[in-house]
Amino acid sequence: MSAGPIRIPVGGTAGTSPYEVLVGRQLLGELPGLIGRAARPSPTTALNRGAARHSGVQRVAVLHPEALASTGEAIRADLAEQGYEAIAVQLPNAEEAKTAEVAAYCWSVLGQTGFTRTDVIVGVGGGATTDLAGFVAATWLRGVRWIAVPTTILAMVDAAVGGKTGINTAEGKNLVGAFHPPAGVLCDLACLDSLPAHDYVSGLAEIIKAGFISDPVILDLIEADPQGACTPAGPHTAELVERSIRVKAEVVSQDLKESGLREILNYGHTLAHAIEKNERYTWRHGAAVSVGMVFAAELGRMAGRLDDATADRHRTVLAAVGLPLTYRGDQWPRLLETMKVDKKSRGDRLRFIVLDGLAKPTVLESPDPAVLAAAYAEVAAGGEANGGAL
Ligand code: GLY
Repeated sequence: MSAGPIRIPVGGTAGTSPYEVLVGRQLLGELPGLIGRAARPSPTTALNRGAARHSGVQRVAVLHPEALASTGEAIRADLAEQGYEAIAVQLPNAEEAKTAEVAAYCWSVLGQTGFTRTDVIVGVGGGATTDLAGFVAATWLRGVRWIAVPTTILAMVDAAVGGKTGINTAEGKNLVGAFHPPAGVLCDLACLDSLPAHDYVSGLAEIIKAGFISDPVILDLIEADPQGACTPAGPHTAELVERSIRVKAEVVSQDLKESGLREILNYGHTLAHAIEKNERYTWRHGAAVSVGMVFAAELGRMAGRLDDATADRHRTVLAAVGLPLTYRGDQWPRLLETMKVDKKSRGDRLRFIVLDGLAKPTVLESPDPAVLAAAYAEVAAGGEANGGAL
């Protein structure tokens, strides 16, 4: 008999609404429970067609990328079967969906469908799709409920949890958005079985990040069986995903709007964002975060915060799963300039999350430029950048 999904509570403190992240296999049957009870028209409302549009029938818009057309349609059909008035809304794949034009298209569909405040959006896909779906939910009628159904490991352990929603503009990524937590998150690990291997490994970077900033058992599990960790069929997949989500859930429950603690989730991300921009977003996010964490470890070590063993452990665990450790040395001046305008910097003061020790994240503000350059030299020392190949 199946034990049912793991349920991870999020929010409910500091004025945030509580919700659950469900982790398990073949979970789509749990979706109605997260959406709320389907209300088929009662005999009275069914007779009164004039009132039908405002009857208890719950509308659900299933937003999905083109690449997941059959999954989106299957979810829509299943919800319709359960009595919801369900529509599927197809979006462009990946980051192409995170535009004002696509959001406007969704608003138009919702308007034509008569979507009300009590109706629900379901975002099915990777992080870009769940970011867009959450943004549409945040903005339609000033906020409707939404459910995230992340289908990539990166979206499960990071993007879909925590309520950051948004779109990109010509000037940069995620510059327009809102904090709008979902009403539930459904992580069906069966979705990972068809994920390309490189995307799966890229997602491990965020899992390893959770290990370094908060839960070292994650690192122990990966080090004990790195090959197993590289595949959704590995023995610890559910535990790795669960532990990473618990780290994120704990942080965002205390600090939804990134006014303090949430900043620790940016471990490795300041350099990573600069590398991604420098590579015109052709690198996978996890590959850039991997290099960024090696840099943050060196920065911690050189700032006299982090012990050698923990700093070195970054390289061994990231390399063990095939994540990149190096980037082009000649790009340092460009990366430094980009980091200075990163939206997480304060004025032009650089801020980095570093470790005071394993699972002891802290902020390092305005580090000595010579220490920064020396830390980067360690990242560049390893040779050619290989993240593009991941
Ligand atoms: N991805 C970092 C955060 O959600 O805060």
